[in-house]
Amino acid sequence: MKTLIQRPRRLRINSHLRALVSETTVSSKHLIQPLFIKEGLKTKKPIPSMPGQYQWSLKDCALEAKSCYQAGIPAVILFGIPQKKNSQGSYAHAANGIIQKAIDAIKNKCPELLVISDVCLCEYTSHGHCGLINKKGSVDNDATLDILSQVAVSHAKAGADMVAPSDMMDGRIGAIRAALDTKGYSNTPIMSYAVKYASPLYATFRDAARSKIQFGDRKDYQMDYANAKEALREARLDEKQGADILLVKPALFYLDIISKISQASSLPVAAYQVSGEYMMINALSQNAGYSKKELIHESFVAIKRAGAQMIVSYFAKEWARLV
Ligand code: PBG
Ligand code: ZN
Repeated sequence: MKTLIQRPRRLRINSHLRALVSETTVSSKHLIQPLFIKEGLKTKKPIPSMPGQYQWSLKDCALEAKSCYQAGIPAVILFGIPQKKNSQGSYAHAANGIIQKAIDAIKNKCPELLVISDVCLCEYTSHGHCGLINKKGSVDNDATLDILSQVAVSHAKAGADMVAPSDMMDGRIGAIRAALDTKGYSNTPIMSYAVKYASPLYATFRDAARSKIQFGDRKDYQMDYANAKEALREARLDEKQGADILLVKPALFYLDIISKISQASSLPVAAYQVSGEYMMINALSQNAGYSKKELIHESFVAIKRAGAQMIVSYFAKEWARLV
């Protein structure tokens, strides 16, 4: 008698069946486009280290946001670049600050677009750190919480649909939640950068957002990429303090972390495909034989397959237009 050889075999797939059996799909509806808005600019300015990305003027940012929406992107995340910085980062919560004006302009031009605001101090402090610096020269966690809360409230007041704290101070989600609730913004959700690793992949962002640190590094408050368990601890704490969405950053080198967080938490998970990842895919696609569209697609599918529901990516609008 012939033995039946058991072997794994792929489905006999035609294109309709492929769509039916597909476990992971990505659509423009899952993407968030980051936008940099720079105070004092007259027109958009290309970011030399990130080809295809711009610093937008206040005047142009609303048009660009609308064009993202028209391309099929449901959300943007905004980073402000102020003209003046100081040691306290106080322009971050100025009522007429660049980001507050940008939020207002974008919501006026395109009310359907979900506007997420990055809440951090590093673009606003003269020293470039994400928090206040004490006399000993290190970040003062608790003193920073109050400022971050003021920043988040000022964004909500300007019309932000969601705030996204990226500073990594301990206790910030609870502090920001309490401040939003007290000031009448209890319906404003928080997307927490719960898990943010200290990574060399952010180098070009710091160029784009002009937030290079003047001394020390961010390893005191960002996480060590050798460790995964700490990520679960951070996520659990943020969830307890009232986070609505947990974000993991960077994305592609951290698929295991995305997977762990999405299994450990019942909250939606977001992933940030950071500037260095954008550079990698761009660099690869310059070579003959590589399809940029497919590279982007594969990276998005990998991130979603790992367990993220949404992806922050500099490719968002570009990809939405390719598909
Ligand atoms: C600021 C912030 C950074 C990024 C997002 N928010 C920079 C940093 O932590 O140094 C990085 C994004 C990117 O590289 O695309 N807190
Ligand atoms: Zn920061």
